[in-house]
Amino acid sequence: MYKYSDIVGKVALVTGAASGIGKAAVLALAEQGARVAINYFRNEKGAEETRQQILAAGGHAITVRADVTHPDDVQRAAAGVAAELGPIDILVNNAGSLVERLRLMDMSEARWDDVVDLNLKSAFFCAQSVASSMIERRTGAIVNVSSIAGRNGGALGSIHYSSAKGGLISMTKGLAKELAPHGVRVNAVSPGVIDTAFHERFSTPDAMKAYANAIPVGRVGSPAEVASVIAFLASDASSYVVGETIEVNGGMLMD
Ligand code: NAI
Repeated sequence: MYKYSDIVGKVALVTGAASGIGKAAVLALAEQGARVAINYFRNEKGAEETRQQILAAGGHAITVRADVTHPDDVQRAAAGVAAELGPIDILVNNAGSLVERLRLMDMSEARWDDVVDLNLKSAFFCAQSVASSMIERRTGAIVNVSSIAGRNGGALGSIHYSSAKGGLISMTKGLAKELAPHGVRVNAVSPGVIDTAFHERFSTPDAMKAYANAIPVGRVGSPAEVASVIAFLASDASSYVVGETIEVNGGMLMD
């Protein structure tokens, strides 16, 4: 991977980093020399395996349990990371899920709230938990993980998810405007179809084949291909990129 020397020694917190894109992001940031905090909620095993992988490669990593849908838990976790590793320089708001495919008439208010809390509210309060220290130190990068669904409405049964991910794109712009004058950059990535546990749960093998055939590069993406863009947005190489959402989708959606 391209080397971003400014990331060496920085402290990075990645949410939902026990699997998939979050795991790839935390591995990429550790490879760049960041001291990383691997947030997980239920997947302690995945978080510990990720930590061991980083330690084996000579990196520095801790795990931190928190349910990102609970602002108090997030505050506690962020304070714990800062106490152990130092103030957080890089936050990657990756935790998210479709939770359940549901059509309009089958959606309950509770399920709507679950999905919006997990994919949208979480990123706001995670940002809040690191922002004052970033503002004080006039440094920091926040990268939100949105989705192609936030641009195109998603596949059937994902209105709750695509609305939250679309909101995350707007939130990225709003946070960027508020924080850029303080030296803190906020951007997002918008993955297309990436080969993770997400699709084992929410897409059939036939749907995955159909996606691959329809994507201009002829295949779905890997978590590492999203992580490398996250690392770019976390680094000074993107110092003049502010409030932007970068599509990482093999050409599936261009505009
Ligand atoms: P994944 O299921 O491997 O990763 C999601 C992670 O979030 C898991 O580790 C899960 O344990 C964690 N998580 C769930 N609820 C949590 C909570 N309350 N607190 C803390 N962590 C929690 O799937 P994937 O694909 O790596 O997803 C990562 C992000 O990428 C998600 O935000 C997803 O919406 C987004 N995305 C994924 C795409 C794909 O094709 N795989 C496409 C577009 C966006």
